[in-house]
Amino acid sequence: MLKVKPERFLDDLHHLRSFGAAGVGKGVVRPAYSPPDIAARQWLAERMAEAGLRPQFDPVGSLFGLVDGPSLLLGSHSDSQPEGGWLDGALGVIAGLEIARAARETGGPPVSVVSFQDEEGRFGVTTGSAIWSGNLALEVADRQTDRMGVSFAEARAAMAHLAGKFVDPSQFSGFMELHIEQGPWLSEAKEAVGIVTDIVGIRDMRITFDGEQNHAGTTPMHRRRDAFQGLARFNALINERFRNVVSPQTVWTIGHVALHPDAHSIVPGRATFSMQWRDGDTERLSRMETVIRDAAEEVASAAGLGLSFGDMLGLEPVPMDARLRAALCESADTVAPGRWRQMQSGALHDATNVARLMPAAMLFVPSINGISHAFAEDTDEADLVTGLMVLAGAVGRGSV
Ligand code: GLV
Ligand code: MN
Ligand code: MN
Repeated sequence: MLKVKPERFLDDLHHLRSFGAAGVGKGVVRPAYSPPDIAARQWLAERMAEAGLRPQFDPVGSLFGLVDGPSLLLGSHSDSQPEGGWLDGALGVIAGLEIARAARETGGPPVSVVSFQDEEGRFGVTTGSAIWSGNLALEVADRQTDRMGVSFAEARAAMAHLAGKFVDPSQFSGFMELHIEQGPWLSEAKEAVGIVTDIVGIRDMRITFDGEQNHAGTTPMHRRRDAFQGLARFNALINERFRNVVSPQTVWTIGHVALHPDAHSIVPGRATFSMQWRDGDTERLSRMETVIRDAAEEVASAAGLGLSFGDMLGLEPVPMDARLRAALCESADTVAPGRWRQMQSGALHDATNVARLMPAAMLFVPSINGISHAFAEDTDEADLVTGLMVLAGAVGRGSV
């Protein structure tokens, strides 16, 4: 068994939260390429070097801490949502750092660490690992924009002075990612660990209705071409039509809406919004796409609105690697007997992309009240340490 140091792991995790600490509780605001994100990555690079790893940033700001020669890769991401918690991503990076450090100190197997850039999708979906794995072309990524209209190409220029080459994935024998569950099941069942069977797929795009901007007091209702009313009708229509398509596990979200010019007394001339949907079945994701495109076209033509669709980004559902998963299950059974289960991941993770390149597996620890992507996100420290021990146990087994 690798001799990890839980206190050092928790100290590093708390220190990482100091970059972008915000809100009540343990909130964090550290979106990709923001000053706190870059500062956190520079601090992580120092901690990697202290641990005897060779830090290397790739051209999009993903940070690797490398050992020489073949190794196992552990990690996750250290960017956050626009309002996020202290553990989403950070947990997997710091657990990877602690295990790599312990492995060097105690003669364990060679372990490298990664913090991927923009997992939280300021510019899409798991951007840094999607590019590294070949799931997303750099030219396509470069033209994506965030909610404020900043392009990925402009944003990543903020890290150009740190950027090196893309890291060759052939040096890694496999990838394992520890993460918080971000849902209610482990917490409700009072279990400590979830070993991931598979990760659902996702589709994500931006849709725009163009209407006619006009005066909110003088424009008769029947003469308006109100872009917001188009969005409202579209939303009602897809909710109605999805009933024949979805399963209880399917989810869909309009999480971002921008009205132009966004004022009380102006009939909105433009509504741009995000449309995201997730499911474990690729076929169902496609049927939902058809419902979405048809509904948007019908609404636009009935209301005299212009319609445009942005690039559709997406990731396919993926199973986790059987051998790595078995090692995690064996370790969970030793560290937390009777307190673990196998489960699907409804959240997306860098492991989805990395699975294209090498065997990949994941494990979860509980999220208190199932809350994440919010300042209130938290996990009992005892559960964080249990997750670390299960991962260290799997790495130390030799079979991975
Ligand atoms: C990852 O943050 C996701 O949105 O699932
Ligand atoms: Mn995450
Ligand atoms: Mn997240």
